[in-house]
Amino acid sequence: MRIGVLTGAGMSAESGVPTFRDALTGLWARHDPAELATEAAFRRDPALVWGWYRWRAAQVRRALPHRGHTGLAALAATHEVRVVTQNVDDLHERAGSIDVVHLHGSLFSSRCSDCGRRAVPEPLAAALADADEAARLPPPACSHCPGTIRPGVVWFGEALPTAAWDAALDVVATAELLVVVGTSGLVHPAAALPSLARRAGLPVIEINPQPGAIAEVASESWRCTAGAGIARLLERLDAGG
Ligand code: OAD
Repeated sequence: MRIGVLTGAGMSAESGVPTFRDALTGLWARHDPAELATEAAFRRDPALVWGWYRWRAAQVRRALPHRGHTGLAALAATHEVRVVTQNVDDLHERAGSIDVVHLHGSLFSSRCSDCGRRAVPEPLAAALADADEAARLPPPACSHCPGTIRPGVVWFGEALPTAAWDAALDVVATAELLVVVGTSGLVHPAAALPSLARRAGLPVIEINPQPGAIAEVASESWRCTAGAGIARLLERLDAGG
């Protein structure tokens, strides 16, 4: 079976990576997104923004993929599984998933804000034991031009990478099932993918402990965590469901 999986921050929550909007743990409970996740913020105070992404990348490097990530990777042995994620962490890849589309970029694809060349080696991949959330750090200079290296993530107000969005549309157009895991369904255009899938006649299963925008579109809503929901999905598919 051809399975599309759309994941959001809730997919990484069981690995200890905070979500965006969960009140208690949300990253932004302590920060104003306009203060950090925009190009204007980076131009205004590059050391603040780069330091925050360094902290987030160190948090992700310390995190481990959970059974939901490894379950999806294992599923690819018997089904065609394509993951479309809104997350900028690399937990799907570290669990073994091969076909992963990053709609909102990746913490580990820093590039020059002027010439666009990727920074090699990846400056945010370095193990940072002492990174703290408040540490300011000037971003590295580009080695090819006078520009400055920026995180390879999509900031508010920026367009999604065209290739990633086209790949996501292809997943919805060719899949036989869409599983939506751990997203509030509030940020477009990613949030439109489940509706596109339903209009294309695909069954859409939502996995999320909380009801939200996706519930209005899903064929089934499983009120459970990503790990438990993906285990249930594997059982259903094993049983030929
Ligand atoms: P949110 O923080 O908006 O939503 C996280 C969702 O995960 C919520 O619906 C939670 O109920 C759910 N959740 C929490 N714990 C879970 C668990 N253990 N298992 C399953 N679900 C769980 O994060 P996103 O929907 O991913 O965009 O946010 C989408 C985008 O908003 C992000 O990619 C980011 C942000 O603006 C950019 O940075 C461009």
